[in-house]
Amino acid sequence: MTAADPTAPVPETPRAARGPHAPDVPEDPRAPDVPEGPDVPELPDVPELPDGPGGFAEAGPGPLVLVTSRSFSSGALDLNRRLREAGCRVVRGAPSHDPAELAGPLREAVAWIAGTGPVTAAHLAAAPRLRIVARYGVGVDAVDRAAAARLGILVTNTPGANTRAVADHTLALLLAAVRGVALGNRRIREGDWRPWRSRELAGATVGVVGLGRVGREVTARLTGFGCRVLGHDPLLGEPALRELGVTPVPFAELPRRCDIVTLHAPGGRTLVTASWLATAASPLILVNTARGDLVDEAALAEALRAGRLAAYAADTLHAEHGGAGGPLLAEDLRDRVILTPHVAAQTVEAVDRMGAAAVDSVLAVLAGRTPAHLVADRPG
Ligand SMILES: NC(=O)c1ccc[n+]([C@@H]2O[C@H](COP(=O)([O-])OP(=O)(O)OC[C@H]3O[C@@H](n4cnc5c(N)ncnc54)[C@H](O)[C@@H]3O)[C@@H](O)[C@H]2O)c1
Repeated sequence: MTAADPTAPVPETPRAARGPHAPDVPEDPRAPDVPEGPDVPELPDVPELPDGPGGFAEAGPGPLVLVTSRSFSSGALDLNRRLREAGCRVVRGAPSHDPAELAGPLREAVAWIAGTGPVTAAHLAAAPRLRIVARYGVGVDAVDRAAAARLGILVTNTPGANTRAVADHTLALLLAAVRGVALGNRRIREGDWRPWRSRELAGATVGVVGLGRVGREVTARLTGFGCRVLGHDPLLGEPALRELGVTPVPFAELPRRCDIVTLHAPGGRTLVTASWLATAASPLILVNTARGDLVDEAALAEALRAGRLAAYAADTLHAEHGGAGGPLLAEDLRDRVILTPHVAAQTVEAVDRMGAAAVDSVLAVLAGRTPAHLVADRPG
């Protein structure tokens, strides 16, 4: 692989379309017609749920459970009913966790089934009766666990409930980046049916950062595609990585040795920086279904423009909880920044598993039992 020339014009298609055997072919009269795909049934919309508190507010003596996860109880299971049948009142609150909007329900809430929004010390201090924050999902980086521990509030999550869903979605984003799906989708709408060529996944070298639940499922899928998988996980030894079929590689070496890198580590620190990206031997494809704060978005935008990064495909952005905007939403990057709005875990199966596990934790605490999946306190 040769180093990218930063002075070269920024290519329009992902790296996989630009290797020595894959020149861009803007107009090839001999290109075969694209065969029609199978009929795909229309995907059901996730039902719109009320954002504000009060949507499901019920008067009564039962313990109040605040739910701020937008997709809670929108799968096949009626989990609102399960909570009510257990004697609880259910109040839906703003998924953004806007403190002013949540102030009312937090004053009364005994349990909080929380989505990905921040759960701060201020939220917790405003909730004198709160006994549990049941994170609906895996990541607890947005929860101030030290504050929760000080106040004696338990924190749980739902590990494994969405692993397969997130791994599937990772492959969807990865393949979309490799095959230029966003580019094709836009061009067709503009009446532009020019084909281009991509590379196959078999034979690609993929770096997996974080070999926990999702990283392992992703590795299994990549292995099925015939990829060579390199991996980095500071908490797993080399023998454990080799047992997973992964070649252990220091994080710093991944850009030099990989065609694609996919992130599956916990959020809370910036791993992908300008200096890390600068070591890519050839334009890299980066996939992130973990957390937006794992990457320096300004550095990614710069690397995309300079041709060091071929594409960035992500389910999560810094702007997620702060409204629109951010360097990766620039118009000139639209075909090479492929985004989904934190929906990797949004399958019917995963929504049911996450919701049921969160309700199990809440009901265990209300019954005086220790919930499964207690998250260890964070020191400080
Ligand atoms: N997009 C979504 O909807 C969605 C859904 C579920 C999980 N996630 C995110 O995906 C990530 C992985 O989830 P999981 O269930 O596999 O978690 P997990 O806890 O099972 O695995 C995380 C792994 O990352 C490793 N790790 C820790 N620090 C690391 C570092 N600096 N570099 C590399 N590896 C490191 C850990 O040792 C662990 O093996 C988390 O960030 C989680 O928040 C996103």
